[in-house]
Amino acid sequence: MAVGFFDSGLGGLTVLDAAVKRLPDVPFVYYGDNAHTPYGVRDPQDVYDLTTAGVARLFDAGCDLVILACNTASAVALRKMQEAWVPPDKRVLGVFVPLIEALTERHWGDNSPPRQVGVNTVALFATPATVASRAFQRELAFRAIGVDVEAQACGGVVDAIEEGDMILAEALVRSHVEALLRKMPKPDAAVLGCTHYPLVEEVFASALGPDVQVFSQPKLVAESLADYLSRHPERAGGGTERLFLTTGDPARVANKATQFLRRRIDFQPA
Ligand code: DGL
Repeated sequence: MAVGFFDSGLGGLTVLDAAVKRLPDVPFVYYGDNAHTPYGVRDPQDVYDLTTAGVARLFDAGCDLVILACNTASAVALRKMQEAWVPPDKRVLGVFVPLIEALTERHWGDNSPPRQVGVNTVALFATPATVASRAFQRELAFRAIGVDVEAQACGGVVDAIEEGDMILAEALVRSHVEALLRKMPKPDAAVLGCTHYPLVEEVFASALGPDVQVFSQPKLVAESLADYLSRHPERAGGGTERLFLTTGDPARVANKATQFLRRRIDFQPA
């Protein structure tokens, strides 16, 4: 048994890495659907079908708790999965809520009515599917009032990262930031709403300038997971083995993962 991490590809490793550092004794299984990445340009049914297939594989690997370390899957598929698909003895959690709780200065379980918060203008950078879902704005509206959100669908960034073309990824990030700043010249905060983007977080930060507070998910999700496991220790599972699964070419994915995380990671076929 272990905690499962699901992503369309390499991005979820940014969250997994933070979780491993925060919870070194918890066994994790990672599933990257690299054969079908990117999800951000797929239609909702496709994202749902691919996400449930991946999460089912993680259940088979002994995971009782799975983190959707993918905003696109969290935005498009999670609610439907929780309503009608996840078995009663399993849990699937997304990556949106920890981010929005941080942005709105809330602690877990604070269900008080929406209120004014410290930020008034927020730039959201995410995949086209996440932006189209408006899930971020919906979750934010449960907790905060008077926050103006400008969203930028960052086409091409996930593809470039998956291909290992970081020069292209950086150029695309700069042009997406410029496009956003034309619509909202002075955001108080920026949200990196895709788990691939922490791999180019410094580029976002430098393009946005020093006055914009950047919210990135890995540490926030790791902290929230640690809090969840302290309330539900049985969900951590009893295993010790770490496993990395991919639907793509294991050697190719392992090389890229090793390059990103700067430590050797071996993948096995999912
Ligand atoms: N890391 C995924 C996310 O957070 C990327 C989605 C994609 O494959 O386009 O949205």
